[in-house]
Amino acid sequence: MRYRIETWGCQMNVHDSEKLAGVLEGLGYHGTQEAASADLLLLNTCSIREKAEEKAFSFLGSLRALKQMRPQLIIGLCGCVAQQEGEEIFKRSDLVDFVLGPRAIASLPLLLDEVRTRRSRPLDRGLRDDSVRFDGRLARRNPGPRAFLTIMEGCNKTCTYCIVPTTRGRELSKPAAAVVQEAEFVAGQGYREVELLGQNVNAYRDGKVHLGDLLGLLQGVDGIRRLRFTTSHPAHLSDAIVQAMRDCPTVCNALHLPVQSGSDAVLERMRRGYTVRRYRDRVDRLRAAVPGIALSTDIIVGYPGETGEEFDATLRLLQDVEFDQVYSFVFSPRPGTDAAGEPDDGEQALKESRLHELQQRQREIQLRKNQALVGCVTEVLVDGFSRMGDSILKGRTRCNRVVNFPGPGSLVGEYACVEIQSAGPNSLEGRRIAAVRP
Ligand code: 5AD
Ligand code: SF4
Repeated sequence: MRYRIETWGCQMNVHDSEKLAGVLEGLGYHGTQEAASADLLLLNTCSIREKAEEKAFSFLGSLRALKQMRPQLIIGLCGCVAQQEGEEIFKRSDLVDFVLGPRAIASLPLLLDEVRTRRSRPLDRGLRDDSVRFDGRLARRNPGPRAFLTIMEGCNKTCTYCIVPTTRGRELSKPAAAVVQEAEFVAGQGYREVELLGQNVNAYRDGKVHLGDLLGLLQGVDGIRRLRFTTSHPAHLSDAIVQAMRDCPTVCNALHLPVQSGSDAVLERMRRGYTVRRYRDRVDRLRAAVPGIALSTDIIVGYPGETGEEFDATLRLLQDVEFDQVYSFVFSPRPGTDAAGEPDDGEQALKESRLHELQQRQREIQLRKNQALVGCVTEVLVDGFSRMGDSILKGRTRCNRVVNFPGPGSLVGEYACVEIQSAGPNSLEGRRIAAVRP
């Protein structure tokens, strides 16, 4: 039996697909690259914006001919759209055999059994927190030097635009001992970098152990020289976490800290729980504690009622903070969220031109910052070949910048010392000068 998983969305979803793959391989399934030869197809969907959801449904539609040719093909709709839409999915498409929410991964064998034996169309979106309880050692992780590791699930915040609390449920943390065990396990499998995952990792708690303590506990894991965590919430980024970033040698000098807007009025309407001043104070503390830290962020443009001045405030924030990377999106109303019910007379074309302007300005900032690195020598963890060609390797610096350089395939998964020779807004190019001993 062959399976294929299509994945959309964030790292959490990518890692959930690895867990689904682990469950399937435990049942004797083998992976295949081609949907056409699969007996089981899982669509692991994202619903953060309408476009993401549409992509999954249009992919689903493209499977009609295949399903007609091979009626025994089983199609499962998983992930955040599954959680959000539930039964509706069966009405919307006759191609879907079962629906599985992101917190019910361990139920996959049961659902498959029901599809096969009872010919029913089962659904499980029970919020049983099993992606935290799920033994991450069973995941079939993708090849490469970096392993994802779920430390918590869900989000208790109430940001008005966000569907995630609906799709991922309430916060729940994985016990620290299980996190350490899993990190040791992946280190034993040869992974060099661990990225701790959660929708709001700063809220991690196991009894008295908070995220800063957890980072400390993970320092003892042999073989893991790079530790990252995502996603952080500015209102929860405590001094203890900042200190742990400073004091733990394996914690990388990079942080994703979504700000969403540079206007206090918009932040308040979004119910983000911080002001621009407080956000900037966090940035100052981070930069003082962790020299050279790279900061990335998320921005939503065109939130309902966003005025020209409010948008300008976001541009000013970008100009002042000079982020190393910005992920920006036009606001997309999501079903059942508070923001979707707010009056919004902003024209889509204006929102898109604002987005374009913001991205243009940010490109210039990134280009300038990256060009300042030309001539530097940096440690790169090689994760594979670049799209530029077979003899060009691609890797990341500790501060998460992409570096391309010529080198042999034997370096994949290894550290290399690279001198930066040129820079674009999104990546650096260089040459290898000497291998660093792992
Ligand atoms: N519309 C547009 N962008 C959104 N995001 C979350 N919800 C929405 C929405 N309804 C963005 C936020 C978040 C990132 C993962 O996606 O910036 O940080
Ligand atoms: Fe998409 Fe959010 Fe779900 Fe990740 S958690 S897959 S970003 S909706």
